[in-house]
Amino acid sequence: MKKKVGVIRGDCSSREIVEQTLRVLNQISKQSGVEFEYIPIAMGGDAIDTYGEPLPQSELDKALACDSVLLGAIGGPKWEGLPGEQRPEKGLLKLRKGMKLYSNARPAKIWPQLSEASPLKKEIVDQGIDFIIIRELTGGVYFGDHSTNTENGIRQAVDIMPYDENEIRRILRIGFETARKRKGKLCLVDKANVLDTSRLYRAVFEEMKPEYSDVETSVMFVDNAAMQICKNPSQFDVIVTENMFGDILSDEASEITGSIGMIPSSSLGDGTRGLYEPIHGSAPDIAGQNVVNPIACILSAAMMLRYSFDMEKEAEAIEKAVDKTLDQNLRTADMMSTGMSLVGTKEMTDAILANLEAL
Ligand code: IPM
Ligand code: MN
Repeated sequence: MKKKVGVIRGDCSSREIVEQTLRVLNQISKQSGVEFEYIPIAMGGDAIDTYGEPLPQSELDKALACDSVLLGAIGGPKWEGLPGEQRPEKGLLKLRKGMKLYSNARPAKIWPQLSEASPLKKEIVDQGIDFIIIRELTGGVYFGDHSTNTENGIRQAVDIMPYDENEIRRILRIGFETARKRKGKLCLVDKANVLDTSRLYRAVFEEMKPEYSDVETSVMFVDNAAMQICKNPSQFDVIVTENMFGDILSDEASEITGSIGMIPSSSLGDGTRGLYEPIHGSAPDIAGQNVVNPIACILSAAMMLRYSFDMEKEAEAIEKAVDKTLDQNLRTADMMSTGMSLVGTKEMTDAILANLEAL
């Protein structure tokens, strides 16, 4: 079997973690006999430097011809001054939309070895942190009309947040189905006390509930959810929410697990082709120093094996190898705590590879 994997090396320190992740995939290939053909795709700052735009059509076409796409992270100070349409982030949004990846899953699960690194109190961490945020990814304010103009000497800006019921129904369905496969609890997070889009989410949620009578449901305003995630995270199983709320809450959720450098994500549409990326940014401040944590990207590759290639056994092997490596007290700087051994990006991956081989 051969799988075409689009590889977006991304910007800044993301290049280091993608390079290390390919070493892990090569090892999986050796162990499983599944061949991976890597198709380099330029997106973000990388594409701006080469083509003058963040995602040329030719690069999007390459992604659409792959079985799945692995991505580091994009952006950096070099491209920050560019106008909105030409920024690296625009490439990522165009890619998600072009690949029709409306459903983004971001797990927030604490590795027991990292409980010391969580900024939360021990009593809270001990109650358990294991939930997943299902974020709508191709709608809302990210994709509504944007404009900036000056009227009567006053500068104005407008960002529109559109949603239709079909977009809402399909993401809520992913939420319900995910809850069914987990502990059966689904919480819709919104701002229905203020926003029409949120009220439409609630209406569709109500309509769908009878179909999922086995799922325990709740609704929560996003400001309260932000508070509850750090006050009582063990109450959550699956959170489903619109695009921007999901963006914000998933950073918070990742941090309470000890490090944002540990959290992978999957973005899927109706088929099996997905986009897999760490949820952290491109960490320009530490680029090229061999200090960035490669684990979120490596775990994203594991998600790709599981959800796009039906390689559950291999996905679990990667996760076990990471688990063993943490047991060996190896830590990159982002998750360092007393008594642990500090290692670099490459050395962390060496250890994961050794553990993978020994499984
Ligand atoms: C993320 C990122 C992106 C987003 C940016 C880079 C456009 O923050 O994947 O969470 O906001 O979706
Ligand atoms: Mn984000």
